[in-house]
Amino acid sequence: MADLKTIYMGMELKNPVIAGSSGITNNVENLKKIEKHGAGAVVLKSIFEEQILYESDQEVEASDLGLHPEAMGYLSTMTKEHSVYNYLSLIEEAKKVVSIPVIASVNCLTDGEWTTFAKRIQDAGADALELNVLITDYKDNDSKSIENKYFKIAEKVKKIVSIPFALKLSILFSNIPQMLTGLSRSGVSGLVLFNRYWSPDVDLDEMAITSGSIYSSPEEIVTPIRWIGLMSELIECDISASTGAHDGNSVIKLIAVGATTVQVCSALYLNGIEYIEKIVKQVNDWLDSHGYKSVDDIRDILGPKTHEERKVFGRVQFMKYYTLKK
Ligand SMILES: Cc1cc2nc3c(=O)[nH]c(=O)nc-3n(C[C@H](O)[C@H](O)[C@H](O)COP(=O)(O)O)c2cc1C
Repeated sequence: MADLKTIYMGMELKNPVIAGSSGITNNVENLKKIEKHGAGAVVLKSIFEEQILYESDQEVEASDLGLHPEAMGYLSTMTKEHSVYNYLSLIEEAKKVVSIPVIASVNCLTDGEWTTFAKRIQDAGADALELNVLITDYKDNDSKSIENKYFKIAEKVKKIVSIPFALKLSILFSNIPQMLTGLSRSGVSGLVLFNRYWSPDVDLDEMAITSGSIYSSPEEIVTPIRWIGLMSELIECDISASTGAHDGNSVIKLIAVGATTVQVCSALYLNGIEYIEKIVKQVNDWLDSHGYKSVDDIRDILGPKTHEERKVFGRVQFMKYYTLKK
């Protein structure tokens, strides 16, 4: 049996496979199953900054009910408190029923009001926090002003909580290397690379906008492989891989290019929570059959180490087939 123990953001995980944030991780029964079937840690479903604001706005629109403004204010606060209360209860319950690290998650766009909740999330017992951030701006603002918002969020949260926190990012930056290296030095303990979002598609029969695939396909793993591989040597915090990990081999691949942990989500929707067991077993079997004693032995053995190697690894044109063998 290989040693699968992994230190992620200062927490000891029994293995590097994390159940990523999704609807699956929003109730205690599933969290118990996630632990039972062997995950190293779990990231809870995100509580949305937008959702909290949206819920309160809904109440404001209900003012045609003829409520006194003070009553409206009370209702609005109650609605916010309700979302927050439920989320804090989920964390507290989770900490009672599972012993694997519980990572709370907030989807945020600003360093504003929600940041006070971060402390309450910590007080509720979360072992760590993941901030799921994608700031899109369809106005004519310059990229610097948008990028600065990510740094402001990291700086603000760093001042508020003492538990480790990670930023879960997209690849939607004009200068990914600069953003990843910069953010890795901004006080975060981890970067989760990358989130995958809902996408619109077009239904040609109905000539209507429809939903793209909600779940990733295994081929999508090449994006985190590219960027984690390219950046792992330069990123100064832990890296958790996300998108396209559908089996144990994907976990091995992502760790071999520099990931500390690997998050799985679509694979659990498609195969059930019990599939975690199979993934962890595959990781162990691969290590055993290739003569590695621990998961640490393969971490980043394939990621480029020099500027020259990075240029080859980062090649985007189909000019020459390339393998980097260790
Ligand atoms: C139905 C669904 C719900 C999700 N909800 C969240 C969420 O609340 N917060 C978050 O950070 N990511 C969320 N994600 C993204 C996943 O955590 C993950 O980053 C993404 O699906 C890519 O990983 P995968 O290829 O293993 O699915 C969700 C994904 C799915 C499919």
